[in-house]
Amino acid sequence: MTRYASVLDLIGSTPVVDVSALSPKANVAILTKLEGRNPAGSVKDRVALSLVDAAEREGRLVRGRPGQTLIEPSSGNTGIALAMVCRLRGYELTVVLPTNVSPERRQLLMAWGARIIDSPGAEGSNGAVRLARRLADEHPEWVFLYQYANPANPAAHYATTGPEILADVPEVTHFVAGLGTSGTLMGVGHYLKEHRPSVQVWAVEPPSGELVDGLRSLDDGYIPPIFVDQGGAALLDRKVVVRPRESIEWTRRLTDVGLFVGLSAGATMAGAIKCAKEIPDGQSATIVTIASDDGWKYLSTGAWSDDVDSVVERARRIIYF
Ligand SMILES: Cc1ncc(COP(=O)(O)O)c(C=O)c1O
Repeated sequence: MTRYASVLDLIGSTPVVDVSALSPKANVAILTKLEGRNPAGSVKDRVALSLVDAAEREGRLVRGRPGQTLIEPSSGNTGIALAMVCRLRGYELTVVLPTNVSPERRQLLMAWGARIIDSPGAEGSNGAVRLARRLADEHPEWVFLYQYANPANPAAHYATTGPEILADVPEVTHFVAGLGTSGTLMGVGHYLKEHRPSVQVWAVEPPSGELVDGLRSLDDGYIPPIFVDQGGAALLDRKVVVRPRESIEWTRRLTDVGLFVGLSAGATMAGAIKCAKEIPDGQSATIVTIASDDGWKYLSTGAWSDDVDSVVERARRIIYF
């Protein structure tokens, strides 16, 4: 067993597992990278550490100085990961959360000692972003890292996730990942294309107006600044639309290969299956996808136990992501 000086040293170097048993084509391999193995449970550990490290380098945060507060609107994994990193680095974190997020999310943030400010549930995560921006304006002494616009987000994936994928799967032909902030797709996509220009980068997004765990449709009107700054439109080869129902069905199917992963992992797997189906017969391909987190935070969706219609309906009312 390896010995580590800090839990932060456990971030990254996640395993990749072959899930080709679920591939619709014998000559198309599918592998998924298990980001739930990160210490706070998701791919966002990489991003949270990168955001805080960058703020320290820029002098916006100073380690050891008492009373420094960060603010972040997040009902999701970034808030949880930031809460863990801030706890270890000695910063206070305030998270703006819609009132209707799932109980697991709220409790995980509390476990790491984050302060929670409620935003109106009816306004969803966009309402949390608005309130966080207002509070950041009112408190210029607070540090607002804002993952949607912060280049340290894709930089984390360019420096770690991309190189890990290429080292473990040098034969990769396609990279399929969900689009939330677009940090994963921009960072990994640029890295892979620089080193293997023929690799295709496919984004998975929900249909406009529908929610899939952690993902957003660019047609909903908000385009993350990092997507624009990093030339996202030119980088992506394809966008593939996955509906909430498909993401739940494929999350369940992944248990057939022993994986208990979050709903966006089901969505990216559904995207990988669509990608595999489009590979011409007789041609070989190796698709790499990302499983952003594990299933634990989603148990109250009933995704593994209830009928799919009631899970889809529940996910409309409660923010799980
Ligand atoms: C569970 C989950 N999957 C996928 C994503 C999308 O990743 P990215 O923000 O890098 O586009 C997120 C982002 O918040 C997420 O929380």
